[in-house]
Amino acid sequence: MTLYRGTFLDTPVAGELRALDGVLQVEDGAVVARGPVEDFPAADVDLRGGLVLPGFIDTHVHYPQVRAIGGLGRPLLDWLDECALPEECRLADVAYAQQVAVEFVDGLARAGTTSALVFGSHFAPAVDALFTEADRVGLRVTSGLVVSDRLLPEALWTTPSRALEEGRALAQRWHGVRRSRYAVTPRFSLSCSAELLESCAELLGELDGAYFTSHVNENLAEVAAVAQLHGGYVDSYDERKLLGPRSVLAHDVHPTDDELDVLGMRGTAVAHCPTSNAALGSGLFPLRRHRAAGVRVALGSDVGAGTGFSLLKEGLQAYFGQQLQGAEGEPLTPADLLHLATAAGADALGLDDVGDLSVGKRFDAVWLRPPEGSTLDVVLRSAAGTDDALAKAFALGGPADVAAVWVDGDRIRG
Ligand code: GUN
Ligand code: ZN
Repeated sequence: MTLYRGTFLDTPVAGELRALDGVLQVEDGAVVARGPVEDFPAADVDLRGGLVLPGFIDTHVHYPQVRAIGGLGRPLLDWLDECALPEECRLADVAYAQQVAVEFVDGLARAGTTSALVFGSHFAPAVDALFTEADRVGLRVTSGLVVSDRLLPEALWTTPSRALEEGRALAQRWHGVRRSRYAVTPRFSLSCSAELLESCAELLGELDGAYFTSHVNENLAEVAAVAQLHGGYVDSYDERKLLGPRSVLAHDVHPTDDELDVLGMRGTAVAHCPTSNAALGSGLFPLRRHRAAGVRVALGSDVGAGTGFSLLKEGLQAYFGQQLQGAEGEPLTPADLLHLATAAGADALGLDDVGDLSVGKRFDAVWLRPPEGSTLDVVLRSAAGTDDALAKAFALGGPADVAAVWVDGDRIRG
């Protein structure tokens, strides 16, 4: 049993910030009680001087792209050709992949991310290296083999039968093992034949509780190219029964109203990736239209088109993106940003026992404690309450302010 003393902020109800300046009691990795200091004996761990938040949940991030971060100045398809895919080809070398896996998992943990839906590699041994490292460190990772059979460099192609066999073998090794789960992951329907998408549906049908993830409606040139090959972008997945409540599609910057209705009906979630959308010039995310259609939305860093692992930065950029849309944007409060970065992610990934710090949840948490004298430290000291403190954390916070991280009550960092 451990008693933590601190300022705990979370959003068990969307849009509502809950604050506790007090104590959290954690037993066997779960929060078993919470309340004011007077209700508890002296705390074991003092987390005062900063904020304790639920661990961040990144619903879209690419493991092989850590070293591709920062390739600015290109739209999606050029960025893939010139920045991302040459690096992804290097993961054919398993020793290289193992190094990148260490950098990637470390990058997530340093940013305070405790759960992630991760785009794996096109190479099965590299995906195994990712699961191995995430399992060693203790992160909750849902990931899988990325598959494609056209458009990309040929070194990244597979076939429908090989995709099925390799996916099956990886899922047997990792799906449901400790904190790991499998996600069937066609890269995007632009790089997948109908037969390959059908093999993805077959694998998904075989795996109990597995996830499906891909990209959709990110960039106008991409959407036009998909229209030539498949017709509708959402339909290219929906026709193969790939969309359901355990499906997460990244971006969706340019959906039609009919597509939003399909996503809403299927219960499919969308990973909103704000820094990536800005960096690649993909466009401004229509959050209001997603909400109106009942589509679940959470945040993704989309490293390496996204500019880093921090969901604080993604939250801030999500806020900017809505502000820039004027009357068509959703004005986002600090509580909305925290919800998008935590509880909404837990919902999108079906992680029912994380996402906030209620009694009964697992203790997945991040302690933001800025270095003394840093601008965040200075402004937090003069914050006018918890909403203001949280707004300041999103405005100024980043990995350098993450002092400790827990998953299931295990301190995995700091
Ligand atoms: N669409 C297909 N592959 C990718 C990728 O790696 N990054 C982004 N942002 N979009 C994609
Ligand atoms: Zn992506």
